[in-house]
Amino acid sequence: MNLVLLGAPGAGKGTQAKFIAKKYNTPHISTGDMLRAAIADKTMLGIKAKGYMDKGELVPDEVVVGIVKERLLEEDCKMGFILDGFPRTVFQADALKKALAGEGKKLGLVLNVEVSEDELIKRLTGRRSCKECGKVYHIIFNPPKNGDVCDVCGGELYQRDDDTVETVNNRLKVYREQTLPLIDYYRKEGLLKNVDGVKPVADVERSVIAVLEEAR
Ligand code: AP5
Ligand code: MG
Ligand code: ZN
Repeated sequence: MNLVLLGAPGAGKGTQAKFIAKKYNTPHISTGDMLRAAIADKTMLGIKAKGYMDKGELVPDEVVVGIVKERLLEEDCKMGFILDGFPRTVFQADALKKALAGEGKKLGLVLNVEVSEDELIKRLTGRRSCKECGKVYHIIFNPPKNGDVCDVCGGELYQRDDDTVETVNNRLKVYREQTLPLIDYYRKEGLLKNVDGVKPVADVERSVIAVLEEAR
């Protein structure tokens, strides 16, 4: 399965991608997670990316395309992959198509997770993530059992630097301007499937499976 998860910030791309990755044993490639890891490691990439991410702007196309191309060449992607948060611009979508074609591959499906803007803001400002294992919680919709501690590994929970109200608003603006056009782009390619993302996580998971099974 060569899959792309499309959706606004906070739509639940990461939540669903992790679920699909586990169920179908396919690598989950999140450009946001890769960039945050680079920031934590203080690499050149991380130092460059942080300024953009903290403002809610996109990291330049060439940078992101470069890291994704490299990742897709790894052994575990041979049988398929789930891209989460990439592509985010028409430039990136074209570059992905070209890179895959170069290996005799193509995308199988683009899942677009649909959620209204009010709901996105609530989801993002209430999100907490585990520092150790990356598990994602929500203080109201999916709270951890004990305060600020991860249920799975006991790690400390933190709020992402870009989940402040101001940055969230800019991320939504950037999404509308630069990423929304991809819905039409993939509709024209005959790859787009919409999933209603406003239901509880388990219901969204069921919808996602239904779409994936139909496409197989
Ligand atoms: P990235 O990390 O990709 O952030 P994003 O696209 O803004 O999306 P999020 O990760 O915030 O949301 P999500 O859809 O994964 O939702 P989640 O499942 O966590 O990118 C961050 C930054 O990196 C960008 O701004 C940019 O600077 C840079 N970047 C990344 N990729 C790039 C690219 N390709 N090009 C250029 N720059 C790039 O869920 C959100 C919350 O809601 C959680 O708390 C969760 O528990 C909760 N939740 C999930 N589903 C439900 C549900 N059904 N009901 C109730 N709550 C739910
Ligand atoms: Mg995410
Ligand atoms: Zn944890």
